[in-house]
Amino acid sequence: MSDSPSTAPTVYLETFGCQMNELDSELVRGALVTLGYRFIEDWKTADVVLYNTCSVREQAEHKAYSRLGLIGQRKRDGESVVLGVIGCMAERDGKDIFRRYPQVDLLCGPGELDRLPNLIENMRRSMALGEDAPRLSKDARSALAGNKSRRSSTLAAADDNLELLDLSRAFEPVDATTERRSAYVRITRGCNKFCTYCVVPNTRGAEVHRPPDSIVEECRRLADSGVVEITLLGQTVNHYRYVHGSAVGSDGAELPQVGPGLNAFRNTAVLSAGVRTTTFAELLSRIHDEVPHLQRIRFLTSYPRDFGADVLEVMRDSPRICNYIHAPAQSGSDRILKLMNRGYTVGEYLEFVDRVFAYLPDATIAGDFIVGFPTETDEDFEATCALVRRVPFKNNYIFKYSARPGTVAIDRFTDDVPLETKKLRNNRLLDLQTEISREVHERWIGREVEVLLEKVRVHNTPRESSSPSEDDAPIHPGSKNVQLLWNRTKPRQGTQLLGRTQGDMIVVIDVPAGDWTASLGTIHRAKVVGASPLLLHANAVSAI
Ligand code: SAH
Ligand code: SF4
Ligand code: F3S
Repeated sequence: MSDSPSTAPTVYLETFGCQMNELDSELVRGALVTLGYRFIEDWKTADVVLYNTCSVREQAEHKAYSRLGLIGQRKRDGESVVLGVIGCMAERDGKDIFRRYPQVDLLCGPGELDRLPNLIENMRRSMALGEDAPRLSKDARSALAGNKSRRSSTLAAADDNLELLDLSRAFEPVDATTERRSAYVRITRGCNKFCTYCVVPNTRGAEVHRPPDSIVEECRRLADSGVVEITLLGQTVNHYRYVHGSAVGSDGAELPQVGPGLNAFRNTAVLSAGVRTTTFAELLSRIHDEVPHLQRIRFLTSYPRDFGADVLEVMRDSPRICNYIHAPAQSGSDRILKLMNRGYTVGEYLEFVDRVFAYLPDATIAGDFIVGFPTETDEDFEATCALVRRVPFKNNYIFKYSARPGTVAIDRFTDDVPLETKKLRNNRLLDLQTEISREVHERWIGREVEVLLEKVRVHNTPRESSSPSEDDAPIHPGSKNVQLLWNRTKPRQGTQLLGRTQGDMIVVIDVPAGDWTASLGTIHRAKVVGASPLLLHANAVSAI
C-alpha cells in the first residue's frame, strides 16, 4: 500500500442499486484505470474505497451505511485510505454524510461522476502532505448536482460534461474467456416522471436524451470488441425522443438534450412542431440495422404509458431485438395508481399488454409492484392480485413501500400501512407470482428456444434435497441474478450450461464433462423439456 499519489494506487469499488449504477461503476472504473489506478477485490488493503450507492428504499441505504462503519476502523487504525460515497445516496443525503460519518472523505452524485477522478486525486494529494496539512473543505470534497440539473429551460442540457464519461468508455476486447458478453448502453439519463414515492428524479436529475449518433456508435464499438448483447438503459426508456438541430455544440456535433415531462406525449404539438426527431422506435431500428453484428438488443425499463405500436412493429420486424418488456405496473388499483402519479389506469395497462401480445405473441412481460403504499386497503391489494392473475408476467419484483425523504408521498401521505401488513401482502403476492411464473415457463415445454450461453457450472457434490422455497423464489433478469439463481440451485453432479432466451428466461442445459468455455457468448437452439417458476430445462438441438 502506498501514501504517495505517484505510485499506482489500488481501488476497491462496490456497487449497490440498479443497472444504471452498474454502468456508472463500469465507466468510473474505465476512467480511473486510464489514470493508472488498479482495481482490487479486497477493501481491507485498497488505497481508495468507493461505494456506488442506491437510495430507492431505506433498506438499500442501510447496506451502504453498514459498510462505512467497517472502513472507519481502518482509519482509526491509522491507515491512509480514501473513502468515497458516490451515486444516488451521496446526492440524496448530501454533505450531511460528512457530519454523520466523519470517516467519509468524498461525495460524488451520479450526475457529476466525470469529476470523481479529480476529487480522488485532490484528496490523495492532501493526505500525502501529512497530518498537519489543512483538511480540504467540504466543498472541495464533494461534487453534487443539487437542483442544478433542473434549472435549464432550453433543450440543450446545461454543463453536460457527464456525456464525456459515457463517450470515454473503454472498449476492451472481450472473448470466450470473459464471462460477461453483455453490456449496458445509456440512452436517457434522469427522469421527469415524479412518481410520488420515488427519489430517482431527485438523485438523477432531469431526463436527458443522448444524441442517437453517439448511441449507435457506442453500440457499434461494443459489438466490434466482441459484445454480443446490449441492453439500452433509461428509467422510462420508451420515452426516448431526440429533437435534431436544437442542441448542437460549437463543433457542430449534437449534444444531449432535456426531455419533456409526463404529459408531453399526449400533446403532439409539443412533439411535432415541424422538427426532425428520432423516436425510441427509430433508435431501436437504427441500432438493429446499423450494427448487424450485434446478436441481441434489449432495453430497460419501459413505462407502461405511451408504449406505441411503432415500437412493437420494429420489435416484430427486427429479429435481433428481444421480445422482452420490463414494464412495472406498480399497483392494480386505479386509486393507488393515481396517488402514485403513474399517469395510467389499470385498464390502460391491460390495453398495453393486449397490444404487446397482438404484435408479439411470444413476448414475455415482467414488472415491479409496490405493496403497502399509503392508504392501500385490502380491496386495493386484491385489485393488485387480480392484475397479476390477469397478465402472464414472467416475473415481478415486489417491494414494500418505503417512505423516502424528499419525495411527494412522504410529505403528502402518512405511511399508515403497518409493516406486518406490508409483509403479509408482499408474501401473498410473491406466492401468487410464483404460480404465474410456473405457468408461464411451463407453456414453453416441448418448444424450441434460442439460448445465449452465459455460464458453465461444474458440480462435484451429489444432489441433496433442499427446501422448495429456495427453488421457488422469484428472480429478476440480469447476469447478477443468474448467479443468485445458481447459488440457490441445489448442488448436484455434472456439468451444466446456463443461458437465457430472447424472452429473458433462464435455461439450463446438461452437457458432458469437458471444457465449454469456447461456447460462451454463442447462441444455440434447444428444446425445452422441463420448467419451474424460475427456469427452463432444455436439450441442445444440435452439437454446441
Ligand atoms: N423507472 C422505473 C423504476 C425505477 S426504481 C419505473 O418507473 O418503472 C425501481 C423500482 O423500485 C420501482 O419500479 C418501484 O417498484 C420500486 N420503488 C421505487 N421507489 C420505491 C419506494 N419508495 N418504496 C418501495 N419501492 C420503491
Ligand atoms: Fe421513479 Fe417513476 Fe421515474 Fe421510475 S418513472 S424512476 S418510478 S419517478
Ligand atoms: Fe437506486 Fe439510484 Fe438506481 S436510487 S435504483 S441507484 S437510479
